Amino acid sequence: MIKVAVTGACGRMGGLIIENVLKSKEMKLVSAIDISNIGKDIGEVMRIGALNVPVEDANNIEMSFESSKPDVLIDFTVADPAVKNVLAAARKKVNLVVGTTGFSREQRSIMETAIKFSGVSAVISPNFSIGVNVFYGLLAEAAKRLDDYDIEIIEAHHNQKKDSPSGTALKAAQTITNVLGEREFVYGRHGQALRKREIGIHAVRGGDIVGDHTVLFAGDGERIEIKHQAHSRQAFAKGAIRAAVWVCSARSGVFDMKDVLGIK
Ligand SMILES: NC(=O)c1ccc[n+]([C@@H]2O[C@H](COP(=O)([O-])OP(=O)(O)OC[C@H]3O[C@@H](n4cnc5c(N)ncnc54)[C@H](O)[C@@H]3O)[C@@H](O)[C@H]2O)c1
Repeated sequence: MIKVAVTGACGRMGGLIIENVLKSKEMKLVSAIDISNIGKDIGEVMRIGALNVPVEDANNIEMSFESSKPDVLIDFTVADPAVKNVLAAARKKVNLVVGTTGFSREQRSIMETAIKFSGVSAVISPNFSIGVNVFYGLLAEAAKRLDDYDIEIIEAHHNQKKDSPSGTALKAAQTITNVLGEREFVYGRHGQALRKREIGIHAVRGGDIVGDHTVLFAGDGERIEIKHQAHSRQAFAKGAIRAAVWVCSARSGVFDMKDVLGIK
């Protein structure tokens, strides 16, 4: 049985992750951690009936790990606190699945160093959906053949999303520059400037849009659009659960969803 701790347990993704852990025959929820609803039963918070798992305070995360001894922490929170959660898990030798987005390069590097130093395994991905990871492969293929086309990335998310552009849009841009070489990223154009060899990245925020990403390759007389649309957060939750099972038997290191899916 894989023992799972969840940070951001009271959030949209955390709740879905917990539902999926409860349905899984190979997983057990041992700890629900957040900064709100401390002491309440997480099942009551989720309105699914008591689970005898109280919400624990993220400020005491190491104590929580000492008593619940999780095999893996699944973190869907906010970038700054997520770094602290990751460092605590690494110190306590807990494997990691990190879905939180919006990390700076420096934060990413601090987390990776701690993970490698501690010898645990981690899957860090801005998008755990299986479809999006296939979408990245399609982008790399298109970029190889359409290297002189103009490239624009347009993403849309719900009005509660904090970071812009999305981690998925940035990863799409990086996937393309890995094939084409460095290009300037131009975020949401405004004012007067000619288009150069750049990648335009545009974020739309509204309503309850779960997550749309379109990459436009536009040339003379034609264009191709490669599009992924998430219909439900379940697409991310299922992928994160799959990653949590995978990471518990992986060698030490930092991996992404392509490693989990074996599509590198
Ligand atoms: N990788 C993916 O596939 C994927 C998919 C969806 C969302 N996300 C990302 O996951 C994150 C969470 O998204 P959400 O929609 O669930 O947000 P949310 O606001 O619904 O939930 C975040 C939760 O984290 C809690 N929290 C804040 N600080 C904390 C801390 N120090 N320790 C523990 N919990 C803490 C909040 O109280 C809240 O309950 C965002 O960064 C979002 O972009 C990633």
